[in-house]
Amino acid sequence: MKDILDQLEQRRAVARQGGGQRRIDAQHAKGKLTARERIELLLDEGSFEEFDMFVTHRCVDFGMEAEKPAGDGVVTGWGTVNGRQVYVFSQDFTVMGGSVSETHGAKICKIMDLAIQNGAPVIGINDSGGARIQEGVASLAAYGEVFQRNIMASGVVPQISLIMGPCAGGAVYSPAMTDFIFMVKDSSYMFVTGPDVVKTVTNEVVTAEELGGASTHTRKSSVADGAFENDVEALAEARRLIDFLPLNNRDKAPTRPFFDDPARIETSLDTLVPDNPNQPYDMKELILKIADEGDFFEIQKEFAANIITGFIRLEGQTVGVVANQPMVLAGCLDIDASRKAARFVRFCDAFEIPILTLVDVPGFLPGTGQEYGGVIKHGAKLLFAYGEATVPKVTVLTRKTYGGAYVVMASKHLRADFNYAWPTAEVAVMGAKGATEIIHRGKSPEEIARLTKEYEDRFANPFVAAEKGFIDEVIMPQSTRRRVARAFASLRNKKQVTPWKKHDNIPL
Ligand code: HXC
Repeated sequence: MKDILDQLEQRRAVARQGGGQRRIDAQHAKGKLTARERIELLLDEGSFEEFDMFVTHRCVDFGMEAEKPAGDGVVTGWGTVNGRQVYVFSQDFTVMGGSVSETHGAKICKIMDLAIQNGAPVIGINDSGGARIQEGVASLAAYGEVFQRNIMASGVVPQISLIMGPCAGGAVYSPAMTDFIFMVKDSSYMFVTGPDVVKTVTNEVVTAEELGGASTHTRKSSVADGAFENDVEALAEARRLIDFLPLNNRDKAPTRPFFDDPARIETSLDTLVPDNPNQPYDMKELILKIADEGDFFEIQKEFAANIITGFIRLEGQTVGVVANQPMVLAGCLDIDASRKAARFVRFCDAFEIPILTLVDVPGFLPGTGQEYGGVIKHGAKLLFAYGEATVPKVTVLTRKTYGGAYVVMASKHLRADFNYAWPTAEVAVMGAKGATEIIHRGKSPEEIARLTKEYEDRFANPFVAAEKGFIDEVIMPQSTRRRVARAFASLRNKKQVTPWKKHDNIPL
């Protein structure tokens, strides 16, 4: 008996070595942790339960039968993050470059199936040279099976991808279908075709980092949601994100202990909006002052900064925040901002996370760039996302909200539950000057100035909308946290139904 136990320990020790010490050292030399070290940091200490440690590939081509490393280049299993269950796979670059074989793919599929069945998030740590070249189409099939499960899991359990090494070719499409992608600066990249192919086809000379590094994907393409300095930081932030999320679409997000008075008054908010309507102010200040303990987890911080998205807690419960940012492009909606916010709203709705919308929007950004780029369709994404969302929706207007953008930004007309306005809010079809010039075309500049003032006095306020019931209440800025917290508390049992349909046809 003792021999058998020793044998097991020996086999385990060999499996844990992955591709061997030389390759582990090479991994460390690149500033990267190994697949197992990453899992250890991601999960609560001692909580990891591994599956399929002894699985090997079945390939017999190219002399592969002589090399059958246990685990086949991916570590899979489940564990906990602050006591809550998650499933995890972590590709082991030290074993054949973390390449995906038929059995490697099957291991990932096994934990994805379990995650869907048991209602727990999937966290995928990607560090792979792509399809196992020796296996050919069997490897492509393995990817296809993973993709199909990404699709089945979407909207059922949260899926988070951590890109911590190469992720290239069709392999990118698995993370692309997950809810959030975090990348590590300088040691990870994602692209459909690499620099060599790009050079051959388009004659462009570009490095892997420029083409698909963390900064490219968080600033330019918006493929990724966060960029972090190293593996340790990315893993710690993934834990922080998991803490905000429910385990599945039938579960509520966890309620955390909070030490912040829900009725906290913030007198500084009474002067947040400057007297000059053209002067910007930082909407993040409002978000931080509303949030429990000023804790805000921002999503896509570096992309389309004219809109802010992320998670806060109110009375310990997760709330998704969407807010126009007057500091960037005057807070206008454009293609990028609409897409960014629409995806975030849909994530919140899929996972029953209430949405707080903070509005200061002069309208949609004008220009041929926007029109040719399809701002009509992209803007419609955000409109559609808000209108279909059945989660509790609370909206606060701080200043401008003009035209179509007024309707889009979680207005009363899109089934928002509470629509509050600060006294500084202006709900109108457009700015006073533009409106006056259209209504009183041909009048002298002096008359236009007088009539603009008249228009402002009549419409540049929240009261016309409040008279019609489109604004439920005009509130003091200082009491925003209390108002919003009470609003969400009153909506905890909200149930709203949508007519039966197979699925909608959101303008993609
Ligand atoms: C089998 C692979 C592999 C692969 C790497 N290795 N990629 N083995 N299949 N795809 C092995 C190497 O042979 C090497 O083995 C070890 O992993 C480490 O690789 P190195 O090249 O030494 O590492 P590095 O210099 O860091 O370069 C990493 C790399 C490079 C840039 C990823 O390995 C590379 O270009 N690999 C090929 C990438 C590729 O073309 N993949 C197929 C893409 S198509 P030893 O024994 O020396 O340690 C694809 C389609 C997916 O993925 C489609 C889904 C639908």
